[in-house]
Amino acid sequence: MEYQRCGHSGVLLPKISLGFWHNFGQNKPYELSREIALYAFSQGVVHFDLANNYGPDPGEAERRLGRMLREDLGGHRDELFIATKAAYDMWEGPYGSWASRKHLMASLDQSLGRMGLDYVDLFYCHRYDPDTPLDETLQALVDIVRQGKALYIGISRWPLEALKYAISYLEAHHTPMLICQHKLNILDRQPLEKGILDLLDKEKKGFIAFSPLAQGLLTDRYLNGIPEGSRMTEGRFLKPEALTPVLMERLKKLNGLAQERGETLANMALRWVLQQQATTSVIVGASSVEQLANNLNTLKGTPLSDEEMRIIG
Ligand SMILES: NC(=O)c1ccc[n+]([C@@H]2O[C@H](COP(=O)([O-])OP(=O)(O)OC[C@H]3O[C@@H](n4cnc5c(N)ncnc54)[C@H](OP(=O)(O)O)[C@@H]3O)[C@@H](O)[C@H]2O)c1
Repeated sequence: MEYQRCGHSGVLLPKISLGFWHNFGQNKPYELSREIALYAFSQGVVHFDLANNYGPDPGEAERRLGRMLREDLGGHRDELFIATKAAYDMWEGPYGSWASRKHLMASLDQSLGRMGLDYVDLFYCHRYDPDTPLDETLQALVDIVRQGKALYIGISRWPLEALKYAISYLEAHHTPMLICQHKLNILDRQPLEKGILDLLDKEKKGFIAFSPLAQGLLTDRYLNGIPEGSRMTEGRFLKPEALTPVLMERLKKLNGLAQERGETLANMALRWVLQQQATTSVIVGASSVEQLANNLNTLKGTPLSDEEMRIIG
């Protein structure tokens, strides 16, 4: 594994991290989740990305990690960098969602309980809350670090201006933002187009990309139709309508370029994200050890040339 410094901080993250959004819920056998996570750890993927609501049911991914920590990984706690998040819908009533101090503090306590941890390494505000004053959210994050319940703070999916404000607020309160998390892949480049990567580069902050494979579109998974058991057959977060003829043609061209490079489309897609400015790591999902192993092969490949970057567009 190659490790990369996260902005101007003491933290090194693996270039490829493991996400627990899918494949760590009750719709998948516990043994499969365990196999994927333990394989990741054995390959140096020491950063696990979770959230309060990852399941199904919400909380299940954290419960599963908790069991792994008890039964398999307990002796390795200090080798792991565990992240969780709050701000999406988690429980009933007015405090079960969004980014109030009340929700963030209660949610993190629940997360720690499910994982059996005293602290997480990284705690994120999972989304921008347009109705809660930013100072309330940010002060809650500062206080969470001061209480020792998280070592570092991250921000996920905030728009540019709010992110700028967060960086300066957290800096002024001596709890610098470690990292920003956003979706970034060849098909969806918002952090690049909206100036977020420029800002993070300038401020020397880390960036970690989620859905770097566009939930599987940027792999060979759908090149010959929709396979049984794929995320698209679940149809909840990745819908068959996404696979338009225009996109299919583009994916086939990209796959051709990857083959010329002697790698899979997944490898080339991950490499593309890793070559973007400010990028510290990509968080991949995997429904099998084979997929994860293939994704980790990315790091054995060669960088994309300027010409290849131009062809990818
Ligand atoms: N901050 C946020 O709001 C947010 C939002 C979304 C995700 N995230 C984080 O980012 C993580 C990754 O997101 P994601 O799961 O959407 O990432 P992704 O890596 O873009 O997609 C993962 C899916 O792609 C397919 N796949 C992966 N590797 C493959 C390979 N080598 N060959 C063929 N197919 C492959 C699998 O689909 P099949 O299941 O069909 O096999 C897998 O489940 C999440 O687990 C979560 O931690 C954060």
